[in-house]
Amino acid sequence: MIFISLEGIDGSGKTTIAKIVKDKLVQKGFDVLLTREPGGEPISEKIRELVLDPENSEMTAWTEALLYIASRKQHLDQVIIPALKKGTIVISDRFMDSTTVYQGFARKLGITDVDEIQNIVIGPAIPDITLFFDISPEEAKVRLDLRNSGSDRLEAEADEFHEKVYQGYRMLISENSNRIKVIDARKAVDVISRQAIYLIEELLEERKASQ
Ligand code: TYD
Repeated sequence: MIFISLEGIDGSGKTTIAKIVKDKLVQKGFDVLLTREPGGEPISEKIRELVLDPENSEMTAWTEALLYIASRKQHLDQVIIPALKKGTIVISDRFMDSTTVYQGFARKLGITDVDEIQNIVIGPAIPDITLFFDISPEEAKVRLDLRNSGSDRLEAEADEFHEKVYQGYRMLISENSNRIKVIDARKAVDVISRQAIYLIEELLEERKASQ
C-alpha cells in the first residue's frame, strides 16, 4: 500500500491534520496506520525521550543524527514495513526528510553525509508521497507560543535554527517536487485536511490505474 510522510517546521500543525486525515481515510474504508517519528515503537519512543530531553544539552550533532536514524530503523523494520506488507496505508508524522533538514542542513552536518547513512539504513522504503505543511518560522513561533506547552530540546533552539530548517525544507522541495507536495498550513484546518486527502486519493487512483 502507500507510504505517506508528513513534514514541516515545529508549529506547522501537521500533527493535528494527521489525525483528521487518518480518520477521514478510515471513514472511506481504508486500513490506515498513523505513526510518528521519533517514536512509533517502544524502543524508538525511548530514543525519542533521550534525544528530546532538554537536560541533554551536551549531545553532539552527530549523536543526535544517529539517534534519529536508529529510531527510524527500528520503527521502519518493526512497524512501517510490516504494515505496508499487509496492505495498510501508513502515515508517518515526520520521516527521513526531517533528519536531512534538521541535522544535515540546520545542524550543518552536511546533507550528503547524512543522506549517505540514511540511504544505507532506509534502503528502498522511501515515502510514495510527502506532504509539506508550509508556514513561515515567524508564524509558527506565534502558534508555539500560544500552545505554551514547554519546549523540547529541538524546539528550544534559537530562531536562526528554525529559519535554517525552513530554508532546508524549501531546498529539498525544489529538488524533489515529484514526491513532496506543498500545502499552505496557514489555511483553516478543514481546508488543509481536504487538500491532503485530495492529494492522497489522487495517488491512490494513479496506483490503481497502473496495476
Ligand atoms: P515532533 O514530534 O514532530 O515535534 P512536535 O510534535 O513538537 O512538532 O518532532 C520532535 C522534534 O524532533 C522536532 O523539533 C523535529 C525534530 N526532529 C529532528 O531534528 N530530526 C528528525 O529526524 C526527526 C524525526 C525530528
